Amino acid sequence: MKYVPEPFRIKMVEKIKPLTRQEREARIQAANYNLFGLHAQDVYIDLLTDSGTGAMSSDQWAGIMQGDEAYAGSKSYYHLIDAGKDIFGYDFIQPVHQGRAGEKVLFPLFLGKGKYAISNTFFDTTRAHVELAGARAIDCVVEAAKNPAVRAPFKGNMDTAKLEQLINELGAENVGLVVLTITNNSAGGQPVSMENIKTTAQICKKYNLTLEIDAARFAENAYFIKRDEPGYGDKSLQDIIREMFSHGDIFHMSSKKDAIVNMGGILGVKDAAHPIIAGIKAHCISYEGFYTYGGMSGRDMEALAIGLYEGTEEDFLRYRIGQAEYLAAQLDTAGIVYQSPVGGHGLFIDAAALFPHIPYTEFPAQVLAIELYKEAGIRTCDIGSFMLGNDPDTGVQLQSDFEFTRFAIPRRVYTQAHFDIMAEALIAIKDRAHTIERGMKITWEPPILRHFQAKLAYV
Ligand code: F0G
Repeated sequence: MKYVPEPFRIKMVEKIKPLTRQEREARIQAANYNLFGLHAQDVYIDLLTDSGTGAMSSDQWAGIMQGDEAYAGSKSYYHLIDAGKDIFGYDFIQPVHQGRAGEKVLFPLFLGKGKYAISNTFFDTTRAHVELAGARAIDCVVEAAKNPAVRAPFKGNMDTAKLEQLINELGAENVGLVVLTITNNSAGGQPVSMENIKTTAQICKKYNLTLEIDAARFAENAYFIKRDEPGYGDKSLQDIIREMFSHGDIFHMSSKKDAIVNMGGILGVKDAAHPIIAGIKAHCISYEGFYTYGGMSGRDMEALAIGLYEGTEEDFLRYRIGQAEYLAAQLDTAGIVYQSPVGGHGLFIDAAALFPHIPYTEFPAQVLAIELYKEAGIRTCDIGSFMLGNDPDTGVQLQSDFEFTRFAIPRRVYTQAHFDIMAEALIAIKDRAHTIERGMKITWEPPILRHFQAKLAYV
């Protein structure tokens, strides 16, 4: 498997320096075995997230200097909404400061006590905002997603038969939103096919439900459709993106991913006459800022307007997905199981397969994340039962469908040699996996989104 060469050259660099193993062991213990608690300068390769960690281009930095900081109606606001309308084909575009801000603005307009939201898989903050709005979140991903070793296309899909069954069981009047997460982050950055988007939209139409797209990684999703879905190979990514969004009613997007900015988000509504727009503007003014900036500075809106185009370029996406495939090929040789095929924003290692002797209640994916830091200064995160948390009604630990340790790849940041270090670290840990006997226990946790702050210790 050849590494796909970078379609850019490097103009500015940031120094990084590995600590010794002994230093890393002390640092992770001081952070209560929570990777979010580490100082970033103590990390050598930071794969905690691909969110806001990309490298902006010289065009984006030039845009930063052009930012118009007028409170109302700035030039940069109009650049952003023009780009948003052009790319997504939606009439109404609203800046917000990041994805979860969009969730906070949008979800209470659809959800409340006694309501349900159904998704292929909710991301953690998205689930939290469903719950904060008083509703309950239900995941409804295809069964294929639950078997990481089986290589199948479009493992991010909604299980549409189950969706319809759920709507009938719960009563359509109790379903406030259907949310399609593209790509499906928690299922391993797996894409959703156009066919599945269409079928989900048809079901929503039949029951008069709103289809909301969680669009954080829309460009990667479009790339997979072009590459893997029959009938799309000759279409442009721009046409595929427009077609994807034409099936939804509303979207929210964390622009910190595919739009390659360090901060930003967007809400979109397809139809300019949709009554929800007034509510969005009102919530924005209360929570985010006036609706022509929505919590973003003018310079950040300018960089986002440019990044929306750069993040949807095909040669960039080929290089990006190629990086994860290059790493995956080395793991195949070593017999390390990951959500296969590789997802859009990185690799999701099946920690339950690596540590079959550690139960979900002791968080095998968190164990692997800690080992990776100790081994090579690599920071990853748990996308498993540790992240999922407790049942909000009973307080009992939930069992995730997956115990993934996520290697989230920042955009345009790491080189081929860094990927070799990632592979070497994983292989070294696999070789001694049977000697790692103890899992983790939580010694303190907050009531919601606990994985960001919880304190852990060895069992
Ligand atoms: N939706 C999805 C699918 C996400 O992956 C994220 C964030 C959000 C919404 C929230 O957006 O962070 O801008 O407020 N995901 C990051 C991650 C944090 O690491 O996967 P945000």
